Amino acid sequence: MSNPEGNTENRAILVTGGRQLSGEVAASGAKNSALPLICASVLADGPVTLTNVPRLDDVLSICELLESLGAKCAFDGGSLTIDPTSITRQDAPYELVRRMRASFLVLGPLLAKFGHAEVPLPGGCNIGPRPVDEHLRALGEMGAEIEFKKGVVYAGAKKLRGEQVYFNITSVGATENVVMAAMGAEGVTVLENCAEEPEVADLVNFLRSLGADIKTPGSKRLEVRGGLALKQREPYSIIPDRIEAGTFLLAVAATGGGGTVKRCEPAHLTALTEKLREMGVGLRAEGNDITLAPNGRLKATKVRTQPYPGFPTDLQPQITTVLTMAQGVSVVTESVFEQRFSYLPELKRMGANIIQQDNAAIVDGTGVRLTGAPVDGYDLRGVAAMTIAGLMAQGETLIRGFGHLVRGYEDFIAKMEGLGADIRLVDKDYELKNNHG
Ligand code: EPZ
Repeated sequence: MSNPEGNTENRAILVTGGRQLSGEVAASGAKNSALPLICASVLADGPVTLTNVPRLDDVLSICELLESLGAKCAFDGGSLTIDPTSITRQDAPYELVRRMRASFLVLGPLLAKFGHAEVPLPGGCNIGPRPVDEHLRALGEMGAEIEFKKGVVYAGAKKLRGEQVYFNITSVGATENVVMAAMGAEGVTVLENCAEEPEVADLVNFLRSLGADIKTPGSKRLEVRGGLALKQREPYSIIPDRIEAGTFLLAVAATGGGGTVKRCEPAHLTALTEKLREMGVGLRAEGNDITLAPNGRLKATKVRTQPYPGFPTDLQPQITTVLTMAQGVSVVTESVFEQRFSYLPELKRMGANIIQQDNAAIVDGTGVRLTGAPVDGYDLRGVAAMTIAGLMAQGETLIRGFGHLVRGYEDFIAKMEGLGADIRLVDKDYELKNNHG
């Protein structure tokens, strides 16, 4: 399957700021649901079809990984059918896992189904070391033998045991990996201090649709019965991408415009919509649409990222960017990842007034007017944030890192154009006009 956006290496995003965004845009299916659900399809006794699947590099990568193990994956528009019955190998290739941390989510299902898995340790990345110690500790407690050789995790278990597992840290990936492993354990596995992101709930609902017995008796607790046959009765539709939807809401609000994000799930975006209201944005949620009213100068606020239902870390770079021109001093505290402020120097080059103190960014928007510049984005949310900065700035902004963006945003350029943005892809060496006065 080819990359939906073609060659992205030599491309950069060119944005000309000063326009108010308006109109409407539809959210795609959630990347961070599609990835674990595709991994979970390994557990099924037959082919599985997912719908509302976004065409993203990361989705193509996880399909490539499953195909390297022998599975068959076929896209048909927004539907993806995976046939796991032809899997003959349980060793995930280093090249694919290195490219994408979420590949580590094949560990649990392979271990559950085949009693064996070899998965390279994911590297750190631009937002921190991102260990997997909680994944491995929990699997060990369920009876898996875990060894490390040359950066590869070798996990084996004749039979995983249903145990009481407590997560020392709220981890989306660890919760997902262990839920999938528990499908193959004897008896009931009780998981406590689980992540509660909508994407974790989507994985639980998907497994239930295959016949799994998973109880959610209380906050951050899951009770998973293993050993049941898992077979699909009808295609499963993936939830909307709340981070993509939030990115577009922030882009519209950043330009003072008004517009609607359709086909989203407002209940998954409460932390953001409350913040937007605090910042002076009028908004209304109706069914699967969120509509923003045009706004005047935005007001400063405080943001602290937290596990769901707190403010999502994946919208932190985007809201910090919007706050660079808000009236007053804002404080944005990143409490999920160790270092998710690598984009701040790029914003400062555009005229933002920001000081970083430990895991907090102090943003003074008083009298600030961003001006366009050539900037770099180091991860997909950073590139999205720099694009928003370009929409806010006077003149042209050239944003390098488009290759990161296509990992997690489907048809991003076209969707921004649909909202009235002056945005297009150019060669990465494009010379900005406004750099010469
Ligand atoms: C998921 O990553 C998302 N990715 C991330 O989205 C998201 O930022 C993150 O959850 C937090 O919401 C996918 O779902 C594919 P974690 P994950 O385990 O599972 C520490 C994006 O932009 N930790 O919840 O890797 C970890 O270092 C991406 O779409 C351990 O210490 O995140 C981090 O500080 C970026 N030990 C914190 O927990 C572990 O064993 C939360 O990480 C696991 C995690």
